[in-house]
Amino acid sequence: MLALTGISTLVTNDITLERGKLGIVANAALVVSDDNKIAFAGEAANLPHEYKSSAIDLNGRAIIPGFVDSHTHLVFGGDRAEEFEARMSGKPYSAGGIRTTVAATRNSDNDALVANARRLANEALHTGTTTLETKSGYGLSVIDETRSLQVANAITSETTFLGAHVVPADSQINEYVDLICGEMLDNCAPHAKWIDVFCDRGAFEVDHARAILQAGAKAGLGLRIHANQLQHGGGVQLGVELGVASCDHCTHLDSADIDALADSKGKTVATLLPTAELCTRSQFPDARQLIDAGVTVALASDCNPGSSYTTSMPLAISLAVLNMKMTCDEAVWSATAGGAAALRRSDIGNLAVGSQADFAVLNARSHIHLAYRPGVKLVDAVYVRGQLAAGSLR
Ligand code: NIG
Ligand code: FE
Repeated sequence: MLALTGISTLVTNDITLERGKLGIVANAALVVSDDNKIAFAGEAANLPHEYKSSAIDLNGRAIIPGFVDSHTHLVFGGDRAEEFEARMSGKPYSAGGIRTTVAATRNSDNDALVANARRLANEALHTGTTTLETKSGYGLSVIDETRSLQVANAITSETTFLGAHVVPADSQINEYVDLICGEMLDNCAPHAKWIDVFCDRGAFEVDHARAILQAGAKAGLGLRIHANQLQHGGGVQLGVELGVASCDHCTHLDSADIDALADSKGKTVATLLPTAELCTRSQFPDARQLIDAGVTVALASDCNPGSSYTTSMPLAISLAVLNMKMTCDEAVWSATAGGAAALRRSDIGNLAVGSQADFAVLNARSHIHLAYRPGVKLVDAVYVRGQLAAGSLR
């Protein structure tokens, strides 16, 4: 049992409290039960007597649910600093850079891949991420995609098969799509929860994406799609048509795409990845239009060595507020409950009674500071399943 009091602002994301979408409680207390679930989340004045004597006083710090980063690519070898430098000197980003990382990943053994993925997952944990999804996609052969997913399983249960990242050098597109839908899927599906396709310029077109996602669904995998990042195309509408859990990027949308996402009534989340726009010097998507149309929006880091080499969800929140017209409340919701929705989870991303006790203690009196103080380390301590996993309360 863990009891915390003196919480200036507690973000619960619990709508049943009838305190708005974020379920914000001021002057709050939080109790974690011995089964590592939330047992009490409410006003400190109402903290049941039995918890009072052992409660730890946070002296006016805020608590938020741990971030749910629903889109990362942590299984890779090498980095692409030279490509980044060239881009900052004016060279445009293209999907083709993925092949550089494919070569480095194929040259890395499993231990090196696990160590690199763990390093990044640990970095994410220290900035408040308590659940992350991660993908294959830098193997692009049966053997390298399979071992990429085995590596992914070493750090998370939210694993995604992304054999359809780009067509590998020396392969023909039709043969490669057949390989993905056949032998590669057979080998990868046992290690994956989800399947994803990069449906965009320089990667896969809509018809191939449809065939790959349908094969994945038949193999029992949940569906997600990278869509409309580099240009406007049919990826978002395909995603909604197939009922994917999330359309990710959504940088170039027209009103028909927004209507399609809204008509899904939350079944398909739009996951926005502002650090990818930041690191590729691209235009930011207009989150305001999506939210005003009724679309469920998530924020994620897209951590990968090409387009977004950061694990920081606080940075994503800052950018979403400062450059994408989201309010502070919306951005924090999207980085927590929104990410959980994109993974179709309700046990995480909120601090309602009975939910998994994953949360971050901020060195600030409210969650607003996450956007208000860009680039500043505000996470003092991170608890996963009720246990201190990073930082400290001192
Ligand atoms: O989500 N868009 C496709 N995949 C990654 C980029 C991968 C890379 O450049 O290595 C992304 O941005
Ligand atoms: Fe991505």
